[in-house]
Parts: sequence; C-alpha cells; structure tokens
Amino acid sequence: MKLYKLPAITFLLMCLVTPVVAQEEAPPAASPGATDVGAGKRVYEKRCVHCHGIKGRGDGVAADRFVPAPTNFAAGKFKYASTAKDELPTDDDLFKTISNGLPGTGMPAWGEILSEQERRQVVSYVKTFSKKFAKQTGAPKMIALGDKIASSKESIEKGKALFFEMECNRCHGNEGRADGKNASELKVWPRNFTKGWTFRRTNAPEEIFQRITRGIIVMPSFAEGENVETTPQQRWHIANYVHSLSQFEGAPDWKTAIMAKPVDGDVAADPTDPRWSDLARHDFQLFGQVTRDPRLFTPTVDMVTVKAMYNSKDVSLLVVWDDPRESAETGAAHSDAVAVQFPIKLSGGEEKPYFIMGNDKESVYLMHWSGDGGMAEVNAAGQDNVTPQAKQHLTGKAVYKDGQYRAVFKRALRTNDPQHDLQFAVGQFIPIAFTAWDGDHGEHGGLRALSSWYHLYLEEPPPMDRFLYPTLFAGAVVFVQWRIIRSYREKGKAKNNGEG
Ligand code: HEC
Ligand code: HEC
Repeated sequence: MKLYKLPAITFLLMCLVTPVVAQEEAPPAASPGATDVGAGKRVYEKRCVHCHGIKGRGDGVAADRFVPAPTNFAAGKFKYASTAKDELPTDDDLFKTISNGLPGTGMPAWGEILSEQERRQVVSYVKTFSKKFAKQTGAPKMIALGDKIASSKESIEKGKALFFEMECNRCHGNEGRADGKNASELKVWPRNFTKGWTFRRTNAPEEIFQRITRGIIVMPSFAEGENVETTPQQRWHIANYVHSLSQFEGAPDWKTAIMAKPVDGDVAADPTDPRWSDLARHDFQLFGQVTRDPRLFTPTVDMVTVKAMYNSKDVSLLVVWDDPRESAETGAAHSDAVAVQFPIKLSGGEEKPYFIMGNDKESVYLMHWSGDGGMAEVNAAGQDNVTPQAKQHLTGKAVYKDGQYRAVFKRALRTNDPQHDLQFAVGQFIPIAFTAWDGDHGEHGGLRALSSWYHLYLEEPPPMDRFLYPTLFAGAVVFVQWRIIRSYREKGKAKNNGEG
C-alpha cells in the first residue's frame, strides 16, 4: 500500500481506528505515585481533553467526529468492565480500556504512548469527574465466570439455539451481521459477529461472557434476575457460539492481489452460481474517504471479499460486502452502491491513476452497481467528475440477504470502446480498487468507503506444450517402433529372398 498517497491513513491509525487486535495487557499491580491525581490531570489535559472535554463531559473539540461519541465521565456510566450491571468499573478495568483502546471507535490505545504510571494516574483523574466514585463504599460486585465451558460442536449448537431463544438476533441479525429488525432503533449500532476482529474487547468467549452478563448500556444484561435471564452455563454456550461466527480467528488475512483462474464454459453471471463457493476468497480493507471534502470518518463498509473467474471471452467478479440495511427497503434518500475501479489503459509498469477516482490528468474506468441504477460503466476524472458511458458492456446482478450484498460484475475481456473501457489482459497485474456507499447511512458522492490500489491477475491457461510434448513423444515412440518392426520385416524378407 502506498502510504504517501494516503496521508489520511496516518491520522486514521493515530486516532480513529485503534489497532485491530489489541494486545491484551494484564493490569500490573498499582505502583507508588499511581494515585497522583495532579499528575493524572496533566496527562488528561494533554492526551484526552480533545475528545472527552475539560470537565470529562465527552464534549471535547473533536468529539462530534466520533460515533459512538467519547464517553461522558461525569455521568459515571461505563460499558466495559468486569463488574456486574450498574456497578462502577474497577481501576484495572479502566486501566485496560486506556491501555488497549476500543478498536472500531475513536478511543486510541495508550499502552505504547503513556507509561504504566501515567496510565494509572490518568485512571485516578478520570474517576474525579463523577461523584459516584467518591461515594462508592466497599468493593463492587464482580461478574462470576463460574466454571468455563470449553468450546465444542455441542456447546456451539446449544449456544445457537439460545441465541434465538434470547432474541440476540433481534438486534444482531440471524447470521450475526448486525442487521436485526430492532437495530436501527438503537443509538449505537450492534456488533457484527462475523467480524470478530472489530470487537471493542476481543471476541474471546471470556470477554463475550462478561459483555452479556453486564450489558453494554443500550444492550441489556442477560444475567440472573434480568428481564431475559440466563444461567452462567447458558452464557458460556452463547459466548462459544458468538465466537464461532467470526470469519477469521484473529485478524483477517488481507490480500494484495486477486488470482483468477480460467474456467471451462461460461463465466458465472449470477451471485448464486454454485461455482463461486469453490474459488479462493480475497479480502480487502476499506477506509472512510477523509482526504477530500466531504470527509467520512465512520463508513459502514470496512471490507470487501472478492472472487474472480474468466474464460477466453469474458471476466466475472463477485464482490461481497456487509451492510446491515438494504436502502431500497428503508426508502433512504441515497442508494447503496459499490464500484470496482480500474485504470483505462494498462501502463505495464507501476504507474496508476490517482486512487480517489483519478484526476484531470488520468481518468479511471469503473464498474458501478447501485440499488436504484443497477449495473453501469462509468468514467471518472476525480470524484466530482463522473461520466456515465454511452456504450454499455457490463452485465451482472446483486442480491441482498441477512445483512450482506453479493454482486456479480460480468464483462467481455475486450470491448469495441477502448477509449473508455479497460481491455483486460491475461498474465498481467491489473490495478484494481474498490469503493462502497451505505445509502441509509447518508453515504453518497465523496462520503464513502474506499480502498487503495490492489491487483487483479488473470492466470495464464495451462501452457499447450504440457499436452503437445507428451503427444509428440508418444507419436515418436510409435514411429520408431514401426520403423524397427519394418526394418526387421524387410531384413527377414531379404533373408527369405536370398535363401529362396
Ligand atoms: C480521539 C478521541 C479520543 C481520545 C483522544 C481519547 N478517547 Fe477515550 N474514548 C473515545 C471514544 C469515542 C470513546 C467511546 C467508545 C464507546 O462508547 O464505545 C471513549 C471511551 C473511553 C472510556 C470509557 C470506556 C467505557 O467503558 O465506557 C475511557 C475510560 C476513556 N475513553 C479514557 C480515555 C483516556 C484516559 C484518554 C486519554 C489518555 C482518552 N480516553 C482519549 C475517544 C477518545
Ligand atoms: C437491544 C438490542 C440488543 C440485543 C437484544 C443484544 N445486543 Fe449485543 N449489542 C447491542 C449493541 C447496540 C451493541 C454495541 C454497543 C456499543 O458498542 O456501545 C452490542 C454489542 C455486543 C457485544 C460486544 C462485543 C465487543 O466487545 O465489541 C457482544 C459480545 C454482544 N453484543 C452479544 C450479544 C448477545 C450474545 C446477545 C443475546 C444474548 C445480545 N448481544 C443481544 C445490542 C443488542
């Protein structure tokens, strides 16, 4: 990835997206000086104030950039803790949040920036914003983990049944893709369980167990005595099931190129074609477009999964992405859309057009699908300069189910419009990039998710000589044998003649 082309990524990494899989940092025992509130105030006013505000009310200058908003410490309500519902977090809980950050939110990980002592001190200071801490008497009630039930096929099956019985799907969706029917009524979007690496506190069963026992403010607690209650054993099964839904154990295996093999017969024209399931998946990360105005800091689509096939005539790409609502169904002002971007001409070298939809020096070619317009080829010379093509060569189809789109883009390798269309070449690294819009999240135009350039490679068909040489060799052997046999026969004849 060309970082110099993505100055925004540096900013994103710094303050928007904290490391995807935060290292679990065990809270060390408090050291002398850790309770120095004055020192904690200095750390806070240097590092935390822009987001959490001078009085800890979650109203810092950068606060309105983040969804969810920075925590209002004065309210004394915390999401992530090892304590029971409505209990304040322990010092170690706060230390852990501050050290590891909350991936997928604006909350950065401070473990490598602040010393352990500074993190302890800022914990002491954060606790001064709410009177609840000072009034606290005795130790808080902790979450009892009980006897952990290890994950197994049986436990996961039990967990799945309980997931529907307890109606987790009402918010998290039937497949866990955060597309539940109640999801859009909530202030915070529920988690997509198929992306375990986006969890605020890892998707380890122990962590999931704690989340569903305590609840997460808008998400209810499922502990004993609650409206919908579960036993600890049931919560272990649910935690094992939720853990099992992630597409990757840990961080995704991000790819840099799509390797496409030739197929016999026609290429797939439909996302439901069963041949797709046999092909290798290629996952690419998408970021909010924060380089040009208008900027989008929290896009819905953070990844696309791509598969490809081709034959001597056509190429077909399957693009899969999660979007918890189908804009066409919700009647949103903007429609959901995705686009696959290519240069118009292959340079043969490393040069590529500007990744944000080209510029006035070099345009790009896009295969575009949208919920209201269907498939269309467009050219762009910058994101505000998009021209639909007069001659269309693109076909394909998109389907939506359980919080996920699957779109197939099919086109001839070569077209009669090389001025505007990329002519696909076999055996070459073809630059490819992706962009996506979630219509009912208000995404349209520059407000979108995008990737940097990657590559598509149409693998050469198996070379002919693999078939030709064995055939020639076999032919040669037969020929030589025939000559030998003939020469023997002739010798035999000559002998016979001589004798006769
Ligand atoms: C760039 C913005 C930003 C900065 C800087 C920042 N935070 Fe946060 N912080 C957030 C956001 C956003 C949340 C809310 C996440 C959520 O609700 O899921 C949060 C949440 C928290 C939480 C609460 C988690 C919970 O359990 O509810 C704590 C504690 C916290 N931050 C401490 C700090 C401290 C201490 C610093 C400075 C060392 C700091 N933050 C700096 C954005 C920031
Ligand atoms: C009323 C809607 C609702 C229901 C019902 C619900 N959740 Fe949630 N859940 C949410 C929301 C919203 C969040 C995100 C909270 C946030 O980020 O502040 C969430 C977050 C989570 C997380 C957070 C993981 C992390 O660390 O990021 C887990 C795990 C989870 N839910 C599991 C469950 C399970 C299991 C059930 C059923 C037993 C369930 N939820 C039922 C709304 C719900």
